[in-house]
Amino acid sequence: ASKLYHEPYRLQAHFSPKEKWTNDPNGMVYYKGTYHLFFQHYPKASVWGPMHWGHAVSKDLIHWKQMPIALYPDKLGYIFSGSVVVDENNTSGFGTKDKPAMVAIFTHHNPKGEKANTSAFQNQSLAYSLNEGVTWVKYLGNPVLKNPGIKDFRDPKVFWYAKDKKWVMSLATKDRITFYSSPNLKDWKKESDFGQMLGAHGGVWECPDLFPLKLNGKEYWVLLVSINPGGPNKGSATQYFVGHFDGKNFTPSSNQTKWIDYGPDDYAGVTFGNTGNRKVFLGWMGNWMYANEVPTVKWRNAMTIPRELSLKLAAGDIYLASTPVKELNKIATQTLDVDALQLAKNNNIFSVIKQTPTQYVLKFNTAAVKDYAVVLSNAYGEKLVVGYDAANSRYYIDRTKAGQSAFNKQFAAIAYVPRVSLLPTSNFELLVDVSSVELFADGGLSTLTGIYFPKKPYTSLGIINNGMEIEKLQIQPLKSIW
Ligand code: FRU
Repeated sequence: ASKLYHEPYRLQAHFSPKEKWTNDPNGMVYYKGTYHLFFQHYPKASVWGPMHWGHAVSKDLIHWKQMPIALYPDKLGYIFSGSVVVDENNTSGFGTKDKPAMVAIFTHHNPKGEKANTSAFQNQSLAYSLNEGVTWVKYLGNPVLKNPGIKDFRDPKVFWYAKDKKWVMSLATKDRITFYSSPNLKDWKKESDFGQMLGAHGGVWECPDLFPLKLNGKEYWVLLVSINPGGPNKGSATQYFVGHFDGKNFTPSSNQTKWIDYGPDDYAGVTFGNTGNRKVFLGWMGNWMYANEVPTVKWRNAMTIPRELSLKLAAGDIYLASTPVKELNKIATQTLDVDALQLAKNNNIFSVIKQTPTQYVLKFNTAAVKDYAVVLSNAYGEKLVVGYDAANSRYYIDRTKAGQSAFNKQFAAIAYVPRVSLLPTSNFELLVDVSSVELFADGGLSTLTGIYFPKKPYTSLGIINNGMEIEKLQIQPLKSIW
């Protein structure tokens, strides 16, 4: 059998490039039955370098097929992050109404300008595809949005604002998000700035995304803003604001800083375009603190599981909840129930179910909200612990003893996420995949993603529940997507 996609640490239920480096997901869009995922990619090494856009496609958000590289660096610079739209009305003139173009709006990052310290080395440019994303043509009029003299001026995310029949771009401009609008994707006008005085500012703002979501029939707008460093568990993380957008200005309805995932390994995530009322988010499963050093060689870094976003009322405020997309069920081999009695006799779910899956979903409810912990371990004394700390009302991922960590001294740490829900019972859902774990607690109100690198796969999965009742425990081993 081919070793491709089956090397040590290679995720079996998540997208990662066949080989070499990736960071941010880019240009995610649904078109003609296909989900497109472009990604920051350096095809010559497993470390960050001159950025290209890699490309992968999927019919179901779970199984991915890698395509030829979509965009190569050129004389205007590297191809940094950005988005893709389908220009149905042919506003750009790149296609026709019958055969609309897919248009990529991305940042050209000029490394020479950066070296010369010109302060205007990031500009926004266009490319288009007339064959459903397979090949791309760069627009001759690039760049279409020139840098006014701000060092950090990047990561355009564009959508069609139907009410005003115009395109709206959210752009990260150092310590704020600047909104622009355009009738044709080529001519851009500044509308407003947001956030200089709000949210977290421990690092530069990157990769925004603005989209509407309904809560009890009422429309709100959500603005995602990635920030590096300055995340709640150090390094990179993604905050969000819930509020209103009138085509020009974004006004938040709360001043509290909220994070879509407390990390440490969910960064630069945005949503797919063109999915109607459904909002599907996907992030890069990495952190700039150590992304270039994690112990994989042939390929480096992967994407999170695609997540369905919804707004929820909790603790008197509006929060964004994330859960794995329902399509994940497609790769579940079976759903196994494990009752409390079985677990009391043998505190290793793997021996109860008589298999040792490396990728699976674990779900249960707790009858109260007291301390508990899920422990994955192996015969080498390595263990990963995911649990709840009642005294501080927070969930955590403890990877201090989870495996290799010498590659970077920031890596072996405990990451925390506050509990938002005030309900007297809790609900725990964990997606484990070879070298990553994603926690969706209380229906996705508290989310935490972390990667880890044990010497050998974990062979035991136990629960420390201190006498608290664990209910409806289910484990779903997952098939490999490769
Ligand atoms: C975020 C980021 C973006 C930039 C890209 C470069 O991780 O720094 O702001 O466009 O990565 O690879």
